[in-house]
Amino acid sequence: MRLADLATPALVVDVDVAQANITTMAELHPGARLRPHVKAHKCTLLARMQRDVGGHRTFTCATPREVVGMAAAGLGDDLLLANETLDDGRLRKMVECGGRVTVAVDSRDTIEAAARAGVGEVLVDVDVGLPRCGCGPEVAGALADRARQAGLVVRGVMGYEGHLQMETDDHVAKVASSMELLQRAALDVGGDVISTGGTGTAVAHAELSVANEVQAGSYVLMDSQYGTRDLPFRQALFVWATVISVSERYAVADCGLKALGMDHGNPTIAGAQVWFCSDEHVTFSGLAGLRPGHRIAVVPAHVDPTVAYHDRMHLVHGPPGADTEVVDTWEVDLRGW
Ligand SMILES: Cc1ncc(COP(=O)(O)O)c(C=O)c1O
Repeated sequence: MRLADLATPALVVDVDVAQANITTMAELHPGARLRPHVKAHKCTLLARMQRDVGGHRTFTCATPREVVGMAAAGLGDDLLLANETLDDGRLRKMVECGGRVTVAVDSRDTIEAAARAGVGEVLVDVDVGLPRCGCGPEVAGALADRARQAGLVVRGVMGYEGHLQMETDDHVAKVASSMELLQRAALDVGGDVISTGGTGTAVAHAELSVANEVQAGSYVLMDSQYGTRDLPFRQALFVWATVISVSERYAVADCGLKALGMDHGNPTIAGAQVWFCSDEHVTFSGLAGLRPGHRIAVVPAHVDPTVAYHDRMHLVHGPPGADTEVVDTWEVDLRGW
């Protein structure tokens, strides 16, 4: 099948670029120094590529569904749920999934829920400057003591510095001061894991070496927001769309905000100006000679929610064009919670 034959909107992945991104990241953070976050692609076959090409056997997950799905795919050597959960049923499913599962905790309640469900191992999640989950560094030690009293093994700390992924001013210094918070907590907590980081801070972490594992995920497929940073990763993900209407001033393709994560802004289309997206449409101008039926490649601004809208991704070699051959189709099999 060629891309011209594909029903749209559809996810398209340049598998050569994805593989090159995995290799580049593995050079920066080899083996267990990277704990790739699978929430960015939600695809066990891509996780397998990260294992086989990048040499990574430890993974980060955002949802119990991702943990259970990774274990079922034989990728359960060491899975971290880098989110808190109080859901007894889902905690038990993770305990029973057959993989080694570590869960993030940041309160007495999440510790008690983990212990109740029979979770064996936890990381204390620490607030390193982003208002998300995570306890204050000053209480991390006391929470670790409490977790040990509840029978849990405390492997160390995690803390996500998401507010610094796009920060370009004094980038390394800001990551370093965020990591001081995590390092302080790590001394009080004990254990040997210091887990943090993302695609935007991976290079800084290679320089700083405070953390011993980096949780980057977007780097495999990339998006136009990360594309504005000077990172050593290239765009591998596109939403393939059909032009359905052309007027004198603009054109419309069938790829709207139900096919694209929009929280980081409009997508981009090479050579065009994107005006806006509505439910099923992207309206744009600037491409000469367009007719209804022409196909275009749309680059999403945010990879994670974009992938989560789709049930499969189509693999190609090289940049997408109408004559490009689809070499395989992979299920986005880790969707859901
Ligand atoms: C806990 C956690 N770790 C790491 C990341 C980094 O992911 P990315 O590489 O996609 O920026 C995220 C992204 O939101 C996250 O929530």
